[in-house]
Amino acid sequence: MLPKISITDRTQELENLVLVVSTLKTLPDGVFTASEMSYIRKQHKELKKDIISYNRLENWIYVYVIKEEKSEYKRLEASRKAGNKVGEMLNSQKAAKVVVFDHENHPAETLAFAEGMALGNYQFLKYKADKEKKNTLRKIEIYSEFVNRDPGIVNAEPDPGSRIPDPGFMNIVNDAVYQCRDLINEPASYLTATVFSKEIEKLGKDCGAKVEVMNKKKLEALQMGGILGVNQGSHEPPTFTVMEWKPADAVNKKPIVFVGKGIVFDSGGMNLKPGDSMLNMKDDMSGAAAAALAVYAIAKAKLPVYIVGLMPATDNRPGTKAIVPGDVLKMHNGMTVEVLNTDAEGRLILADALSYARKYKPELVIDMATLTGAAVRAIGKFACAGMESGAPGELLELAESGFKTSERIVELPMWEEYGELIKSEVADLKNIGPGDAGTITAGKFLEKFTDYPYIHLDIAGPAFLDKADSYRGIGGTGFGVRLLFDYISKRISK
Ligand code: BES
Ligand code: ZN
Ligand code: ZN
Repeated sequence: MLPKISITDRTQELENLVLVVSTLKTLPDGVFTASEMSYIRKQHKELKKDIISYNRLENWIYVYVIKEEKSEYKRLEASRKAGNKVGEMLNSQKAAKVVVFDHENHPAETLAFAEGMALGNYQFLKYKADKEKKNTLRKIEIYSEFVNRDPGIVNAEPDPGSRIPDPGFMNIVNDAVYQCRDLINEPASYLTATVFSKEIEKLGKDCGAKVEVMNKKKLEALQMGGILGVNQGSHEPPTFTVMEWKPADAVNKKPIVFVGKGIVFDSGGMNLKPGDSMLNMKDDMSGAAAAALAVYAIAKAKLPVYIVGLMPATDNRPGTKAIVPGDVLKMHNGMTVEVLNTDAEGRLILADALSYARKYKPELVIDMATLTGAAVRAIGKFACAGMESGAPGELLELAESGFKTSERIVELPMWEEYGELIKSEVADLKNIGPGDAGTITAGKFLEKFTDYPYIHLDIAGPAFLDKADSYRGIGGTGFGVRLLFDYISKRISK
């Protein structure tokens, strides 16, 4: 369960307490006994520990010494990871509550510490009878003279200088990350395209965004040959869910559109994925989940910005009616695509969604997709690949948010030469390139369906983990939600 972060103006005796400091020299007199002080010093100086903990019978005391590190981004990420570690220790003690004390005016690090602790508390237990291992931590109180004292007030004037996150906003975003992870972790046996769209409808009701689900008939009427083509091998109909957050005080007339790949299961289709490579392919809707939950968080926070989310969804299966290599599909924008590999299905459904996005005359479109294995091989799990077309400044800003949230972006080029590689002999385009630079040729393919400032994020690496990486636990990570929320809040405060 998500622990709630709140602000408190007092610390009590006998509570679990974390002191956030940059040096042991400032540790408050009177709080620690002489022997405690010498223990803390020894742990830090001799054993090089940055988290020192000890038990006072009724409660636990932790001292977190912020690493000396010039880069604010690295300091924040180290603080999140430390928060996750202390959270694990608290859970092992079956603790429900902790107070994090910003003793020296390091509010950003203190909040990041709480953030890592909260995000690391996530578990996906829906299908487990034995909930014994359930985390107990429920409440994280921050004691600080330096953070926004009114958590939860929305539309508060953000502080553009420091951009210290509002703890109220942090709860909203953490909750969105949790819900995003839940959707990704759901197996395809539950999360069909139809159920996925129903889940987004629920999200819309909860956050006040308008949600419309387009069914198969509607997609046929719109001639979305990409989505319909991929869906041909499935026993389940496709859906295309549109989410709209359009507050009266929006700073933009033309919307910013988030598009997400919503393949609820990718078997590869007729080009069936071999061996273990089909494992985890329930995560192939991570982009769509992140797009929906980014809109959700923005709406929950009532940010004054006009945002649209487009989430095309289907599974990719080799049923008897499935498309086969060589088939030609006619896409929503009228272009034709020769399908040379049915496992390159994400770009087919995204192409229709990107083409559909043109009707909004968008200010900017950002898509997120678990699109290519090549992105995983190139970058691994610690960042996504980013490409832009007509949006160089926007990608720079987004990448800055990537460092800030540690949902990082590595830029790849969109040079025209790569576009040559996806020209087809029989149709306008083919859906795979010759093999090299698979992430870029996929991006070039998508670009053909856009006519607006466009950013493509291939999140195949960081969307899902086989092994926990600190507060990004095993399974869906929710990558993209924190990134987009930070980017949009920054954009409207400028
Ligand atoms: N969903 C996969 C990409 C993927 C791979 C995501 C590994 C997460 C982890 C995508 O639909 C796919 O199968 N891509 C193919 C494209 C190829 C056929 C050109 C790939 O990357 O192998
Ligand atoms: Zn595929
Ligand atoms: Zn896929």
